[in-house]
Amino acid sequence: MQQVKAVVARAKGQPTEVVTINVPDPGPGEALVKVQACGVCHTDLHYREGGINDDFPFLLGHEAAGVVEAVGPDVTDVAPGDFVVLNWRAVCGECRACKRGEPQYCFATHNATQKMTLEDGTELSPALGIGAFAEKTLVAAGQCTKVDPSARPAAVGLLGCGVMAGIGAAINTGAVTRGTSVAVIGCGGVGVAAIAGSALAGAGTIIAVDIDPQKLEKARAMGATHIVDSSQVDPVTAIQELTGGFGADVVIEAVGRPETWKQAFYARDLAGTVVLVGVPTPDMTLPDIPLIDVFGRGGSLKSSWYGDCLPSRDFPMLVDLYQQGRLDLDSFVTEEIGIDDVEAAFDRMHQGDVLRSVVVLR
Ligand code: APR
Ligand code: ZN
Ligand code: ZN
Repeated sequence: MQQVKAVVARAKGQPTEVVTINVPDPGPGEALVKVQACGVCHTDLHYREGGINDDFPFLLGHEAAGVVEAVGPDVTDVAPGDFVVLNWRAVCGECRACKRGEPQYCFATHNATQKMTLEDGTELSPALGIGAFAEKTLVAAGQCTKVDPSARPAAVGLLGCGVMAGIGAAINTGAVTRGTSVAVIGCGGVGVAAIAGSALAGAGTIIAVDIDPQKLEKARAMGATHIVDSSQVDPVTAIQELTGGFGADVVIEAVGRPETWKQAFYARDLAGTVVLVGVPTPDMTLPDIPLIDVFGRGGSLKSSWYGDCLPSRDFPMLVDLYQQGRLDLDSFVTEEIGIDDVEAAFDRMHQGDVLRSVVVLR
């Protein structure tokens, strides 16, 4: 067992605290990771607010990269010294999705078996089964994906969640390829990643839609060919005008609201695809749309969970593209902060100029 500094949310709506936690030595199937960088994501704030569940206290942080320090006795796929990006989908290899050759949909992903605790022994719930606002964290070995060790931890750690969700929404779920016309509604970290992913895949027209002009400028810098301020104009009409009057082949909804999903539905071309990657809240329902419109327009209405990624396939590939200068992950890192600055980063999250604050541990 080791004692390390970590960011914990003790109770609903209360500010987080930096405290000492106990981290067990890795047992069978587990790995102990020395965290080097971990991005601050909306989901962490959502945990603190009690919006995910009531299993307080939470150990926050889940978009991370680090170095494996020790592994359990039976672990063979990662070893001490490996540089890894952590994922929250360690696939099982045995469920019905895995068995039919679609492990990216694994229905039985797993986390570490042993619990990290507060000093008094209270068990912690790690955010998304990771808990990486900590000097060290204990995860399932399958949550560690080895990548090029010369890559910058603060940048590649972001592949562990939001950036992968966005890129994957485009290239995995949306199947964006050479010449595809794409519109992305909502240009936060996830939406901008969907734009970068679309550009990487060779999309033709890439339309960024947001209500915040600052976000739109960022989107343009990351590969959008056109921008639409939907606080000023109707985005459906604007997207149609920019695509020869037809609508986009793929429309990615990266806000997570019924009204923006409805815009995505009507802004796509016949036989086009809607990808919902924004996460709605439980009270939201499908917008009122005539069923004949669903039938008559054809195409597909999809949702994208973690960008339908397979970490072992997608993380090393994207890190290599980053290292080659073809995927600008550095632009997602707005600032590097210390482990004591997570609360301040939550406050800054809703300012237009922040994509990601990243905690860096030295
Ligand atoms: N129309 C267009 N854009 C909107 C609208 C709207 N009605 N409302 C909000 N937005 C924009 C915001 O201006 C912001 O740029 O959507 C963006 C949301 O970005 P972030 O809050 O930074 O969130 P992000 O991290 O990108 O995640 C987006 O995906 O993973 C989920 O839970 C996450 O639901 C969230 C979504
Ligand atoms: Zn499985
Ligand atoms: Zn996240």
